[in-house]
Amino acid sequence: MRRKIIAGNWKMHKTIVEATALASAVKKEVGTLEHPSVVVCPPYTALTEVSMALKDSEIQVGAQNMHQEDSGAFTGEVSAEMVLTSGCSYVILGHSERRTLFSETDQLVNVKTRKALAVGLTPIVCVGETLAQRQAGRMEQVIEEQFNGSLEGLSADEIRRVVIAYEPVWAIGTGQVATPEQAEEVHRYIRGLLTRRYDQATAEEIAILYGGSVKGSNAAGLFAKENIDGALVGGASLKADEFVAIVRAMI
Ligand code: PGA
Repeated sequence: MRRKIIAGNWKMHKTIVEATALASAVKKEVGTLEHPSVVVCPPYTALTEVSMALKDSEIQVGAQNMHQEDSGAFTGEVSAEMVLTSGCSYVILGHSERRTLFSETDQLVNVKTRKALAVGLTPIVCVGETLAQRQAGRMEQVIEEQFNGSLEGLSADEIRRVVIAYEPVWAIGTGQVATPEQAEEVHRYIRGLLTRRYDQATAEEIAILYGGSVKGSNAAGLFAKENIDGALVGGASLKADEFVAIVRAMI
């Protein structure tokens, strides 16, 4: 059965004290849930404390990024092993904010994805088109390029350990959520790319999350679609009750 995942991307929000409080509030409501898998992704500084706060729960912790090298003179960077030993089992890679604000390319996302898999982290690899690309009718081409570049060379065993997030850039932080039909169209397209590269059984196993202005009030409609296996939630993951409402929409 395909995994269902609700992941919260806290971005650059929450001090250690605030992050621990939010994690504890989420744990109180959905801490014992095994399905869907609930993942919270605080800033690096709060990873250890949040992991400790969630120790006796089913909730997993993820980082929002990592560097591809094991160690070295990379001022300000954090390695995959550092992320792992801070209590993480997931890492978000290739988020559109990393791609646009920090110049991350598909090739770099690919190297990071391989490194994450090598240390035993589950990468959540993000793809998504801008509004201009969608309006120019280039949506499928952009998604295919990002898919090919970011996931290049992964074996079937490796791809089964990857989570893909479709995050249309025009829907992130804008309040303009994709309709369930718009999201499903792209999710089906991505599943088709997986089928073509691997095979149908492999493609069926892979969780494809939707991200972009998901809230408690629109989550159920998205989750009703066959190829939408959960959500990567930004703004709405910063409030426990809103995030929990999204988790409950998946049950
Ligand atoms: P949003 O962000 O839910 O605030 O739109 C989603 C994301 O960037 O992962």
